[in-house]
Amino acid sequence: PRRLTILGLESSCDDTAAAVVRTTQGAAAEVLSSVVLGQTELHAAFGGVVPEIAARAHAEKLDICVEHALKQANLQLDDLDGIAVTAGPGLIGGVVSGVMCAKGLSAASGKPLFGVNHLAGHALTPRLTDDLPYPYLMLLVSGGHCQFLRVDGPDQFERIGGTIDDAPGEAFDKIARLLGLEQPGGPALEQAALQGNPNRFAFPRPLLDRPGCDMSFSGLKTAVLRCRDGLIATQGGLHRQDQADIAAGFQAAIADVLAEKTRRALRLYSAPIRYLCVAGGVAANQSIRTALQKVSHETNTKFAAPPLALCTDNAAMIAFAAAEQWPGRTPDDLTLAARPRWPL
Ligand code: KG4
Ligand code: ZN
Repeated sequence: PRRLTILGLESSCDDTAAAVVRTTQGAAAEVLSSVVLGQTELHAAFGGVVPEIAARAHAEKLDICVEHALKQANLQLDDLDGIAVTAGPGLIGGVVSGVMCAKGLSAASGKPLFGVNHLAGHALTPRLTDDLPYPYLMLLVSGGHCQFLRVDGPDQFERIGGTIDDAPGEAFDKIARLLGLEQPGGPALEQAALQGNPNRFAFPRPLLDRPGCDMSFSGLKTAVLRCRDGLIATQGGLHRQDQADIAAGFQAAIADVLAEKTRRALRLYSAPIRYLCVAGGVAANQSIRTALQKVSHETNTKFAAPPLALCTDNAAMIAFAAAEQWPGRTPDDLTLAARPRWPL
């Protein structure tokens, strides 16, 4: 069909989300509604996402999200062309909740069901917001993921490097916790870094001395921890300025590593790749965006980063991915499985 209206569901981590997206051939895609219910407060006391609590909250909130998303779009189930759901990768309890909810909606309405890879959702998002042709290089950086993908089509991804240990968002969250900042750590640490001197502490830039596009962030985390403990031991505590300087130094190290590895990834494909895209929660970070924009300028590529609300976990990207994949795939049936691991 020329026009597709898809309901998407997302529940693979700690955001419960539903959205309606409409695509029309030859026109820009429209996000008719996008509802995201976070769970930050539920997990705050535990210092990280607790899978059991997340799964239960998703199961309780998905129906409400769907109802809100349909209402905001001024549509009913009957008006949809299909139902898309994150079928992995992610915390399995949450993914199962989403898949079961989508199966119920599909069975009740007779609308086709599409299981979508969460990473594909992130990786295709730039096409939802920008008039962007394939192929492009996607740097996907979030709390759980960090990889370079060459995207050649809605279902054609080539992974050309990624983290060998932690994801940057995870590192942001851990360092923020070490510095006594609130969660989620990324935004809090970025805020603290604004007052800091990025050059006071010389934190490592791991793996820059090795060829290729792989990255590592656990050594950086350890270096920051040691620096913090050293300051606490010598001065009896952390001053506000120490906190800001550590935050700024850490953020600068991450930005440097991402920028240099991006430069290399683009060099690998200097001929056909003309677009550099970034997505995932960490793409919300302004200093990382600026560093990547600089690389894009140097390499003569165009830079595209989705607006923040579509960079972090959301269901519009899931609905849109299903619409993109529609021409090339058959719908799933009620045996669709939730997959904790699902590499692209
Ligand atoms: O994509 P996302 O919502 O969830 C997944 O991990 O899939 O990303 C969340 C991550 C968290 O680790 C959060 O701290 C990080 O993105 N983040 C940021 C910023 N905003 C969110 N990291 C650095 N700077 C930010 N401004
Ligand atoms: Zn995500």
